[in-house]
Formats: sequence, structure tokens, C-alpha cells
Amino acid sequence: MPYEPVLLARVGTPNPASVEAYRADGGYAVFERVLAEVKPLEVVTRVKDSGLRGRGGAGFPTGLKWTFLPKDHPGPIYMCINADESEPCTYNNRILMEKDPHQVLEGIMLSCFAVKSECAYFYLRYEYGDAYRTLLAAVNECYAAGLLGKNIRNSGFNLDIVLHRGAGAYICGEETGLIESLEGKRAWPRIKPPFPAIEGAFRKPTIVNNVETMACVTQIMRHGIDWFKSFGIAPDPKNPRDAGSYGPKLYTIAGHVNEPRCVELPMGVTIRDLVEKHGGGVWKGRKAKAINPGGLSMGFADVNAPLKGEDGKTEYDIPLDFNGPGKIGCLGLGTAAITVIDDQTSMVDVLHNVCQFFSHESCGQCTPCREGTGWMLKITDRLRRGQGRREDLDILIDVSDRMGIMPGTTICGLADGAGWPVKTAIRKFRAEFEAAIKDGTRSRHAKSLDLVGAH
Ligand SMILES: Cc1cc2nc3c(=O)[nH]c(=O)nc-3n(C[C@H](O)[C@H](O)[C@H](O)COP(=O)(O)O)c2cc1C
Ligand code: SF4
Repeated sequence: MPYEPVLLARVGTPNPASVEAYRADGGYAVFERVLAEVKPLEVVTRVKDSGLRGRGGAGFPTGLKWTFLPKDHPGPIYMCINADESEPCTYNNRILMEKDPHQVLEGIMLSCFAVKSECAYFYLRYEYGDAYRTLLAAVNECYAAGLLGKNIRNSGFNLDIVLHRGAGAYICGEETGLIESLEGKRAWPRIKPPFPAIEGAFRKPTIVNNVETMACVTQIMRHGIDWFKSFGIAPDPKNPRDAGSYGPKLYTIAGHVNEPRCVELPMGVTIRDLVEKHGGGVWKGRKAKAINPGGLSMGFADVNAPLKGEDGKTEYDIPLDFNGPGKIGCLGLGTAAITVIDDQTSMVDVLHNVCQFFSHESCGQCTPCREGTGWMLKITDRLRRGQGRREDLDILIDVSDRMGIMPGTTICGLADGAGWPVKTAIRKFRAEFEAAIKDGTRSRHAKSLDLVGAH
């Protein structure tokens, strides 16, 4: 049976962003019922039991994160909604905010009620002008309808939602960078611990959650735990740390495909199905060569590399759940935004482009990240200008292996994300890089001395 979308169910309906239309579709009924009948802790337990894992990139269990808040804190406790969405080719949050803002707002209301927060900061990527205007109108409608403000529906619960436009940098999406930026400072991530749940915005306990995570909270409270767990992939019995990958998921498809789009599917769809069935196949009749499985920072899948122990299958066939990309050496599911690279595109050019992005976006606090991303850009730049050296590939792998939270040399995960595309590209497409060095071919995209973004 074809999957029936839930998160995107209202996209394309008449006036989906208006509060009346949302209410006519059953919207806010759950929030009103929860206010009247349910205790905050029951909402926390329900979200925890659903197995919901954050949709912002790291996949941390949402209900569990909420339990890290100090017990019986006198307040204030803050909620920050992360709508910075700057990972290249990722736009699932934007679709939700522009097309069904009340579904997201209801999730925020339920989550704030659960964690006893009376103030949610909605941190929105600056470039998302349409989403900002749509959300602003939706928030104002909620105040007018008595769904926000003081003593909502005579429950004694107060809630304000404050829209805050971002500062136009990728690092503003890292949760403590976001908090610094919200406080009016440069978005320099903080050293953790303390984690935001203990000391976050304005030094108060704070929960940071992604937009899609909020939409999932609405659906869990509406349809229940069993419904949510009926989709996706159960925990791997061989991996005691795996919390499973449950529920519906938004995937975005971009790059060299015929129909770039955002689709909702149960967690665990394969890359092949996303490209071939949902993205209309690779463009211009070509074949796929490499895929980013969840944003640039997750690294590359090699479409033609066979999967060990799985006859006839390749990395094109890995399932996109929280575990799948890790099985082929990628960092993880990330934002579930796939970027398709066709077989006529040079991986040297692709990698140079990726390095430009991370070098430009590194905030510069940690030496391995600031210098590492800069050097990776310089090396990939000379590779594409046909001036690569034999030792360059090993240097690139060495640099990328040494920077990041995982090796323990940086404050935040941007450095891990900068390293993963480099090491996966070189390990999986080494022959192409070696040929570029040997032949000394200059990329047709290389201009002279264009070290854009180098520090
Ligand atoms: C460099 C960097 C950028 C990030 N950008 C985003 C982002 O744009 N949106 C987001 O939700 N999470 C982003 N994250 C992850 C957040 O730090 C945090 O884990 C997430 O917002 C938590 O929400 P969730 O538990 O609902 O996924 C980023 C992390 C890093 C290291
Ligand atoms: S890892 Fe990079 S982006 Fe993150 S804090 Fe350090 S320098 Fe800044």
C-alpha cells in the first residue's frame, strides 16, 4: 500500500497556513485536550516512548533530552526551535514552515507544555523571508485565537513564541552557536558540558529542537505511540546503543535529478528508491556516481561500490535510517537531504566546492578546524588546477581524520562534517583523484588563483 503522508498531508490544500483551515482539519484539538486533561510529565513520557529521535542531524532521542532539564527548576526554562537549516541542499524545514506552520507551532506548544517552558525562541535562517512572514502571521493568529499568551484556555499555562531571524551563517545552526547568536553575540559554539539543558540561553536551562522534530511531536500526540512506531526500523539487536529509527521522515532530493523535491516516507527508504522513484531519476539520461546521503557533511556514497555480503547490491541500496549511512562509512543520516552527483561530474571539482563551503563557514575558534578547512581548500584548489602532488591525498585524509569532536580536537561538529566528505571522497574515488594528479589536467571550472574562502 502506498504511504499516506502525514507531515505533508496539508501541503496543497486551500490556504494551509491559516489558523481556521488548520482548525477545520482538526488542528489544535490535541493541544487543547492536553491542556485540559494531561500532566506535562505524561507528554514527556509519551514522546520518550514513541522513540522519536531529533530530526536536526544528530538523531538524539527527543524525550530523553527533555528529561535532562533540572527537576523542579523555578524557571525560566527556554525552548529554542532550530530553523537555521543551512546544510546545503536541505529544505525540509522550509517546506513545513511555509506550507503548514500551525503543525509546527502546535508541536512547540505541546513541547513547551511538557518541559514547562513559557517562552520559545524560533530561530529562523535569515534567508528564509517567506517562511518568516508566514510564521509571523501564524503566530499572530494564535495570539488572537487565545492559543498563545497568558493563561491559555484557562489552564494556567502561559506561552510566548518569539521569532528571531538568524545571522546568515551555517554555524548558527549548531545549538550553542544558535544560543550565542540569540543572545546577540557572534555565533561561537560553547564548550560542552554544560549542555544547554543545564545552562543554555541566557544561562537558563534550554531545550533546542529542530522544526521537523516539533511537527513529529504534534503527530505523536495526535495519533499515538503505536502509530509512530509502526513506521521505520526497529533497533539493531547487534547494536545495544541503537535506539531505532521510527516514524515518518521528510527527505529532500537535490542535485542532478530530474525532479528535485521534498518527500515524506517512512524512515528507511533506500537512496536508490529516492532517486529513481521519487526524484524522477538522474538527469539528462546519465547515471549517478556519488550521493551525499544527508547533507554535505555526511560524506559520500559510491553508487557503484558493492555492499559487503549483499549480493548484487551497492551503496545505492543502503536504507536512509539513523544507522544506514554509517554502514558505508558516512557520518550518519544528517538532515536526510540527498544530493545526487552524476557520472560526468568531476569529484575533484565537487570536493573543492565542498571545501570552499566549510572553510568559509568555520567560525575559527579551534585551530584544527580553522586551519584544517583552510588547508583542505588550498590542496583541493591545486588539485583542480592540475598542480596536485602525489602526497596530497594522504595529507587530506590525515588532516580530515584529526579534526572534529570525534578525535576530540574541536568544540563542535562542524569540523567532523568538514572532514567526512574529504575522507569518503578520497577513499571511495581515489583513482579519479590520482588520475587528476598524474595527468595534471586542469578542471574546466578552475579559474586562475581563485582561492575563495581561504583564511
Ligand atoms: C555545524 C552544525 C550545524 C547545525 N545546523 C543545524 C540546523 O541548521 N538545524 C538543526 O536543527 N540542527 C542543526 N545542527 C544540530 C544542532 O546542534 C542540534 O543537535 C539540533 O538542533 C537538535 O535538535 P533535534 O534534537 O530536534 O534534532 C547543527 C549542528 C552542527 C554541528
Ligand atoms: S569546530 Fe570549527 S566551527 Fe566549531 S567551534 Fe571549532 S572552529 Fe568553530
